[in-house]
Amino acid sequence: MSDGPAIEQILYISTVAPNEKIDLGSILTAARRHNRANNITGLLMFNGKRFLQVLEGPADAIGATFDRISRDSRHRGQVLLARKAIERREFGDWSMGFKDKTDQDNAALYDTICAKVADVHPSLRAELTAFARQI
Ligand SMILES: Cc1cc2nc3c(=O)[nH]c(=O)nc-3n(C[C@H](O)[C@H](O)[C@H](O)COP(=O)(O)O)c2cc1C
Repeated sequence: MSDGPAIEQILYISTVAPNEKIDLGSILTAARRHNRANNITGLLMFNGKRFLQVLEGPADAIGATFDRISRDSRHRGQVLLARKAIERREFGDWSMGFKDKTDQDNAALYDTICAKVADVHPSLRAELTAFARQI
């Protein structure tokens, strides 16, 4: 018997749209407001060219949110790398965590991302772990 509604977790990567000057502050403000309202948590990483985002929450909310994010013209080429049901949230404290170069927890974050991408295609995995290492 399940203890409650299934929590789904997705991981995707995308690329900044051409000539787009990204204002991360406004993305994060809107993301956190929506995510709090929809019981979604996660992590967003940005390396200046690509976004890597983990979203976790009730399956219907994840579907609706990913649809909305995918239609956002600030980025393109979204590739869903993983989608799975999870027992417990991995980013439960963050309505949308954001990591950049000044963060103290880089080693732990790097390990978490490597674990998440363990099942993706090796060429992509190399790219993703390199991505996480740069941040
Ligand atoms: C890389 C990226 C990540 C985003 N992440 C989220 C998110 O986690 N949750 C969310 O609701 N919106 C996210 N957004 C923003 C949505 O695409 C959309 O702009 C926003 O939800 C609209 O909010 P508003 O109509 O209240 O301004 C993201 C956008 C980008 C470009």
